[in-house]
Amino acid sequence: MNVREAVRRRRSVKRFTSRAVSRDEIEGLLELAVLAPNHRMTQPWGFWVLGPETRRAYGRIKGERRAGKVEDPKAAEAVRRKTEVEMESLPALVAFTQRLDEDPEVREEDFATVYMGMQSFLLGAMAVGLGTHVKTGRILDEPETRRALGVEDDERIVALVHLGEPEDIPDSKPRVPAAERTRWLP
Ligand SMILES: Cc1cc2nc3c(=O)[nH]c(=O)nc-3n(C[C@H](O)[C@H](O)[C@H](O)COP(=O)(O)O)c2cc1C
Repeated sequence: MNVREAVRRRRSVKRFTSRAVSRDEIEGLLELAVLAPNHRMTQPWGFWVLGPETRRAYGRIKGERRAGKVEDPKAAEAVRRKTEVEMESLPALVAFTQRLDEDPEVREEDFATVYMGMQSFLLGAMAVGLGTHVKTGRILDEPETRRALGVEDDERIVALVHLGEPEDIPDSKPRVPAAERTRWLP
């Protein structure tokens, strides 16, 4: 699959098959992530590959948050359990982290480079028949999430990436044509 095709066919995948993703596959994709453009070569990224135990712990935290929005205690418990199982059953879950530089300008560039590496990871996954889904949100900054993953004080969890063989491929979401957002300057 060439790059154009990978970009065109990439989707945020919601459901994965039970096929396991191997350590070799993940390592191969992370080797692509570290090739991202990186101003000053700060290489601020870290990759935390969550095993089943950590995925379950994360699922518990996520489930608790979801359950907090449900009034009925039985329904809340069901939400808790469902979320825990959902996270534990993911074929793979990788947290992309950023080491936080003291200089805000560097920090912003570093955030961008982590995402560029993530995009290479996503496209590389496409090329080997794997699907991905980027997940963010306040939960990533919560002390309990940081504790569950063992993230250091000078690091930020930028995003979690779900990875696995797609059960189905979601439809493409419409985009505003690039031409409508492009200004050709003299
Ligand atoms: C920075 C970033 C954060 C995202 N966070 C979430 C998220 O927390 N939950 C979610 O379901 N999707 C998340 N997404 C996925 C987007 O919802 C998805 O990319 C968008 O709907 C377009 O769909 P597509 O990726 O299939 O083209 C995130 C995407 C990006 C780039």
